[in-house]
Amino acid sequence: MPGFEIFGDAEKKQVTDVLETGVLFRYGFEGTRNGHFKALEFEKKLCEITGSKYSHLCSSGTSSLITALAACGIGAGDEVIIPPFTFVATFEAVINAGAIPVFGEIDETLCLDPDKIEDVVTSKTRAVVPVHMCGSMARIDEIKTVCDKLGLVLLEDACQSLGASYQGKGLGTFGLAGCFSFDAVKTVTCGEGGGIITDSRKIYEKADQYADHGHDHSGGPDRGADDHPIIGSNYRISELNAAVGLAQLNKLDKILDIQRKNKSAIKDAMAELPEVSFRYIPDPKGDSATFLSFFLPTKERAEQIAENLSKNGVGSPYWYDNNWHYYRKWHHLREMKRSAKLGFELAGNLPDYKNLVLEASDNIMGKTISMQIMLSWTKQDIENRIKAIMKSFKG
Ligand SMILES: Cc1ncc(COP(=O)(O)O)c(C=O)c1O
Repeated sequence: MPGFEIFGDAEKKQVTDVLETGVLFRYGFEGTRNGHFKALEFEKKLCEITGSKYSHLCSSGTSSLITALAACGIGAGDEVIIPPFTFVATFEAVINAGAIPVFGEIDETLCLDPDKIEDVVTSKTRAVVPVHMCGSMARIDEIKTVCDKLGLVLLEDACQSLGASYQGKGLGTFGLAGCFSFDAVKTVTCGEGGGIITDSRKIYEKADQYADHGHDHSGGPDRGADDHPIIGSNYRISELNAAVGLAQLNKLDKILDIQRKNKSAIKDAMAELPEVSFRYIPDPKGDSATFLSFFLPTKERAEQIAENLSKNGVGSPYWYDNNWHYYRKWHHLREMKRSAKLGFELAGNLPDYKNLVLEASDNIMGKTISMQIMLSWTKQDIENRIKAIMKSFKG
């Protein structure tokens, strides 16, 4: 998923545009910014790419999620269903919104299982946040059907899946809002950055206000004249970060093309291995191909293969034991270690995260290995990699 691999003159040119004006702020300074509105331009382009009506950039994927939850009216007393296979940020965002994260099980898409959502729905459930992990998609149409049936807000965490789609429709556009990350290791990077997309004017306006201290941006060049319809925070992106991302966004088609070719080459070779089956991808054409994820017949065999791959120089994430992307090792979250008391804790309804066991998810993740697909691989690199993979399966 790394846009940083193809950094070049285009990124430098965009940043220079901003540095030459000295206007590093996305709002105001019309007289001195020489017509440069990098964040705005990025937002327009993000709408074109995803097919959404509105978009708003934030300082990170995490702040985009927090902002989107707030814009959707999710807060104290609400429960939000999330998957256990995601980056910790999804959990953190729900906590920051003042709501309670509740875990649902995943299926062989490695994303939230639509068939198991209702198992964890209560009278307090307000939203479902599926995470389109590792460049591919959840069974998002089925998740949407469940949300519509139960009257729940659908907010997609598409932080890892820019450019991916399901049946021709961009991920992030199925629910009320979708979020992306443009951090250092994502398909497109701003250094740090994130974005919200939505087709709802109301959600867009709330997000735009929330991420900028409640400014309604109605006061023209004088920010002091803006009104403040809601309490917000500062989750703004800087023009410098947006400028880097704009250059990267213009390369997205090329990035996806390379990723898909590189992934195909490895996948075709691995298809010969009788022990291997692949992650279920509901629409393979829409896969952004940042990772190749596959299953081994047992957990023990997956552990062995992960070790062999590492020994042979093609180390690949075995998420089951990962500190940051799977709930098992989130000791700080499971024990709710925090710097201060949380609102919902005071209300006395803290879920028992500590003793939580998600059997179906553990069973799937125990057998899963993922390989990151790089843009910079040469033909030779891919051949060497395939040899190393084949060797790893002999042991
Ligand atoms: C699924 C997911 N959600 C949210 C985030 C948070 O994004 P950021 O690092 O930009 O805050 C990430 C980042 O890795 C992610 O992978």
